[in-house]
Amino acid sequence: MEQFVMRGGEPLFGEVEIGGAKNAALAILAAAAMTDDTVVIDNLPDVRDINVMLTALEGIGAHIERPEAHRVIINASCITTLNVDYEYIKKIRASYYLLGALLGKFKRAEVALPGGCAIGSRPIDLHLKGFRALGAKVDVSYGLISAEAKKLFGAHIYLDKVSVGATINILMAATLAEGRTVIENAAKEPHVVDVANFLNSMGANIRGAGTDVIRITGVPRLHGTEYSVIPDQIEAGTFMFAAAATHGDIVVRNVIPKHLEATTVKLLETGCEIIEYDDSVRVVSTDTVLQPTSVTTLPYPGFPTDMQPQMTVVLGLSNGVSTVTESIWENRFKYTGELARMGAEIRIESNIAIITGVQRYTGAVVSAPDLRAGAALVIAGLAADGITVVDDIHYIQRGYECFEEKLKTLGAKIEKVDNEFDRKKFEVQAS
Ligand code: UD1
Repeated sequence: MEQFVMRGGEPLFGEVEIGGAKNAALAILAAAAMTDDTVVIDNLPDVRDINVMLTALEGIGAHIERPEAHRVIINASCITTLNVDYEYIKKIRASYYLLGALLGKFKRAEVALPGGCAIGSRPIDLHLKGFRALGAKVDVSYGLISAEAKKLFGAHIYLDKVSVGATINILMAATLAEGRTVIENAAKEPHVVDVANFLNSMGANIRGAGTDVIRITGVPRLHGTEYSVIPDQIEAGTFMFAAAATHGDIVVRNVIPKHLEATTVKLLETGCEIIEYDDSVRVVSTDTVLQPTSVTTLPYPGFPTDMQPQMTVVLGLSNGVSTVTESIWENRFKYTGELARMGAEIRIESNIAIITGVQRYTGAVVSAPDLRAGAALVIAGLAADGITVVDDIHYIQRGYECFEEKLKTLGAKIEKVDNEFDRKKFEVQAS
């Protein structure tokens, strides 16, 4: 079993290049199946969830070429089955995007129920409500969701809760429906805008993405395109928090600073210095005495839930008492037990973490409970005294490309190991 082993206590310095946004790319890959023409996608992150999605597309007959790790050429004119029950697809949440994409194009789809990180109950009722409003018959049985329609018709859809997945899924299906669809209370996340831009570059007619009302006028067909995925704001934020926690100085390159505003504001409140450039952000925490603050996760432009564990790690080292309120997922504090084993003082009351800052964390063997919490535990390990081992790093590999390699270029003493001997060797060499 692979693990990350690290010796903490060294500030991180230098520059790090951010890859394409995983959550945008997953939806864009599914949407690429909506045309018979060839689609070229650049700035694709080379992470496990992306590779699972590509294998699933290949499994239903799409032709996939990967001339390089970050570029894929897809031709979906030869799709042979609309049943996506590939073994691993259940493990990624974004498998549901194949429903919207295939339903839009073929008016029929059958996809294994999605899994993903265990951070909450993760219902998909809003996705299904949207498909039904467009005229599809939807059924959930034997672990599969099937959706079918003779024709899809535009509709007025109000989302009871802001949902990234439901907004994108309905957007995809409505793109090839007859007539006009209005999605109200739509998610405004940067990746919703990116998927809309991608579909528009294929000939879709989508207006208002990035606001809470999206208007889609259905078109009969989509054509090929060449498109580059936006930078990953969560990967970028993770490195920003790594700079803060280790009292380092990092320039995070290839980002859209506007997408990082909520993170930037919270880091300023902790006392870090932030310098924004056109497409990079520098976080300086070398002489910072980290200050406590309060944060609540909210849909964009609020503070992202996917940055909550990394923020908590930083606040755990602050000079006082902070609160972190999780308002999106009900089960997203599991990692705090692991962090407590590294010396953090955190009390959970319902959906609020009350964090009393400590002077330092101490190394321990901990397990990544999910993708973002796993990355947060690595940050904690890099800030901690002594050796930390993070288990279950397959979660981290779902969404971070070359995580340990990028950290190493910033001066981190970290290694990926898969046996006791290499782990001990690292511990001796790093001491
Ligand atoms: C996406 C991201 C995930 C991120 C989340 C919120 C992907 C692959 N995953 O997940 O990393 O944490 O956005 O930014 O892009 N809800 C319902 N019914 C539904 C759908 C959602 O009640 O049909 C609720 C959820 O329980 C949750 C909230 O809406 O409380 C937000 O979920 P949503 O935005 O849909 O998250 P995902 O798109 O699954």
